[in-house]
Amino acid sequence: MKNSNLSTLLLKWYQEHGRDLPWREKGGAHHDPYAVLVSEVMLQQTTVATVIPYFERFIKKFPTIWSLAQASIEEVYQYWQGLGYYTRARSLHSTAQIIAKQGWPQTLKEALKLKGLGTYTAASFLALAFNLPETVVDGNVIRIICRLYRLKQPVKKILPQIHELAEKITDKKNPADYASAIMDLGAIICTPKNPQCLLCPWQKHCQSFGKKDTEEIPLRKQPQKVEKRGFVYLIFNSKGEIFIRKRTEKGLLSGLWEFPWDDSLTPRPNAQKTNNSVTHIFTHIKLTLQISICQTNTLPMEGMFVSPSRLQNYPMSTLMKKIIKTAKL
Ligand code: ADE
Repeated sequence: MKNSNLSTLLLKWYQEHGRDLPWREKGGAHHDPYAVLVSEVMLQQTTVATVIPYFERFIKKFPTIWSLAQASIEEVYQYWQGLGYYTRARSLHSTAQIIAKQGWPQTLKEALKLKGLGTYTAASFLALAFNLPETVVDGNVIRIICRLYRLKQPVKKILPQIHELAEKITDKKNPADYASAIMDLGAIICTPKNPQCLLCPWQKHCQSFGKKDTEEIPLRKQPQKVEKRGFVYLIFNSKGEIFIRKRTEKGLLSGLWEFPWDDSLTPRPNAQKTNNSVTHIFTHIKLTLQISICQTNTLPMEGMFVSPSRLQNYPMSTLMKKIIKTAKL
């Protein structure tokens, strides 16, 4: 099978079955690299279905790289609220400021210098925004390549081989459409479970389809999530206002507002435990916080008391929003 035939089959399938997405234009590079940049950063750790409304709101509020560069980080957080992984918002903001000054990156080396662009995002950005012949290798592509060539070794051990094969079959004349097409093949057809092999444009050439072991490939161990428990404190003053604090720069969720919480196993003195708890899954951690109520008129730490009805004015993580909902604030 010639690699050019594989890409012809895939591109033909994509023309007919590829998804219409708000950040996508079929038939070459997108007319606006900014839309590609924003969507690729949002899609790094978030599903397409979740990203769509966030992307649309974000682009409406910040329609150009210059408008994003000039916005305050608080405003950017406001529009990122709920998407999680807020480091991405900070990186995108500072990358926008650099691009606004220096122009768009045109090579992998230049793209990789920008904050928030790893190997995958840099390659997909250049392919989708400028139709440059970069090879995109994400989890979808890894799965497709392993199945196509029936590679049964642990993925970690054969990554260079996977990259090489992915590079060989990349369509260098239509890299933008090819990148979107292979992402869609992974999302629609070559799914981790119940792959739709009968609808696959590569079915005849897929070595694992022939051997009927598609679903067992690729071989990978699921990383274990660490379970953590702790308490979150809803601290009220006598006016019925609630205490919030701002997380300091650096680290998980920094810059967002939150109710104080910790992962200690015993609650603080004077806190009244409730039967309500909230669980949230981060990349490697499953965190369960039991809600506790406290009463005081003095500030317990750096932060402030606000009326519960004004909480929506302060950007908060999905975890804190779950707490507001569960505690019916
Ligand atoms: N995942 C990462 N980038 C994507 C894109 N441009 N379209 C769909 N899914 C993606």
